[in-house]
Amino acid sequence: MEKSLSRRVILFPVPLQGCMNPMIQLGKMLHSRGFSITVIHTRFNAPRASSHPLFTFLQIPDGLSETEKRLHDVNLMLTLLNKRCESPFRDTLTKLLQSETEEAKQRISCLIDDSQWVFTQPLAKSLNLPRLVLNATKVSFFRGHFVLPQLRRERFLPLQDSEQDDPVPEFPPQRKKDIFRLLDEETEILDAYLNQIYEATKASSGLIFVSSCEELDQESLIQARQDFQIPIFAIGPSHTHFPASSSSLLTPDETCMPWLDKQEDKSVIYVSLGSLVTISEAEMLEIAWGLRNSDQPFLWVVRAGSVNGTKWIESIPEEVMERLKEKGKIVKWAPQPDVLKHRAIGGYLTHNGWNSTVESVCEGVPMICLPFFWDQMLNARFVSEIWMVGLHLENRIERNEIEKAIRRLFSETEGGEIRERMKLLKEKVGRSVQENGSAYRSLENLVDYITSF
Ligand code: UDX
Repeated sequence: MEKSLSRRVILFPVPLQGCMNPMIQLGKMLHSRGFSITVIHTRFNAPRASSHPLFTFLQIPDGLSETEKRLHDVNLMLTLLNKRCESPFRDTLTKLLQSETEEAKQRISCLIDDSQWVFTQPLAKSLNLPRLVLNATKVSFFRGHFVLPQLRRERFLPLQDSEQDDPVPEFPPQRKKDIFRLLDEETEILDAYLNQIYEATKASSGLIFVSSCEELDQESLIQARQDFQIPIFAIGPSHTHFPASSSSLLTPDETCMPWLDKQEDKSVIYVSLGSLVTISEAEMLEIAWGLRNSDQPFLWVVRAGSVNGTKWIESIPEEVMERLKEKGKIVKWAPQPDVLKHRAIGGYLTHNGWNSTVESVCEGVPMICLPFFWDQMLNARFVSEIWMVGLHLENRIERNEIEKAIRRLFSETEGGEIRERMKLLKEKVGRSVQENGSAYRSLENLVDYITSF
């Protein structure tokens, strides 16, 4: 506690749910070690200051129009944010540093911002302020995704049917069809942006992976340390320190919990596709029928606006809704960490965002993988093929496939084996955040490192 007294850390999260949670979690961890925390944030998707009374929040304008706020192309949105936030962020940070010198009360130790902010590295350097980079994806994805421009240039497209399942040695453990989905969706903007991220990370004072630890990512961590030649910290599943719900950008429907209380142990399949994925009406109906036909109780999160062309679930015919209500509950947003912890949850049909994947591992909940974009395909391969703690739908959003996968996951033999492996993985990851575990030690090292600035 004492060594960090009167030190302030500035955080600058990217305004997306999957990036906000880990940054706020890190802030809480550092605050508990005696650091004061200032969060500079965009107006768009601003965190709820009232949920974190111990932090100071400073809002900057982001210049996003209403249309831009709804952009599905996340990389395009991030490049716009990088352009528009540079000047207001510089003004705010400069003022903070000036007030620090004037008042001489509290030293600002460093800036910690998301790897997806790229203008911050030269700015921090010009202000003589150490910058640490936070990344919220799996280490193997972060390390590997810099190879995408090379794959695009060299030989990847078009992809023949016979090569779909081939491995990709440059970016394991993905298959060619996974990479195809990545390259297909992204534009040339991405290649230049990735290069900026790489350079800005390499020039930084250190790299922090939240939600990763030696137990989940040992080999990639060794390689990343060679690649970047900067200190790297893998501080483990952050939500195990503090509940993540408080940094939720949407209001969770708490009626999930009493509903779960009424269900039998390990009987419910939880379904959520995270904060960004959108699906078609037809796909929503396939999921609905798959869930109903499986006969398993289900808790299904359908985010408002996540079904293209509709507000919510109003396009589900009345008679289908009646059948769904017999077995399940549909909400717009759930208190996910609490849901996954609940004794009634027996499986998770997931998009495999990294936060959701790790939350599921930490609660020992086996998964059915339905990845859509970005790191989700890699995470799904780890779950289904490396750790073997889940089944992969291979993008078949069809009622029969969904029903079949749920039945397999809840079955005694195959499901039981998956559950057993998940139990072991949960224990291994759980040990990492306990005293002297790898993530615990890494957090200690991070605190010492920040204190040394
Ligand atoms: C995005 C990308 O989709 C993902 O690929 C990348 O790894 C991180 O950024 P997102 O879709 O937000 O992620 O998914 P994820 O990383 O799983 O994060 C979602 C967070 O929202 C989780 O912490 C989860 O607990 C929370 N959540 C989700 C809720 O609190 N309630 C819900 O109903 C759904």
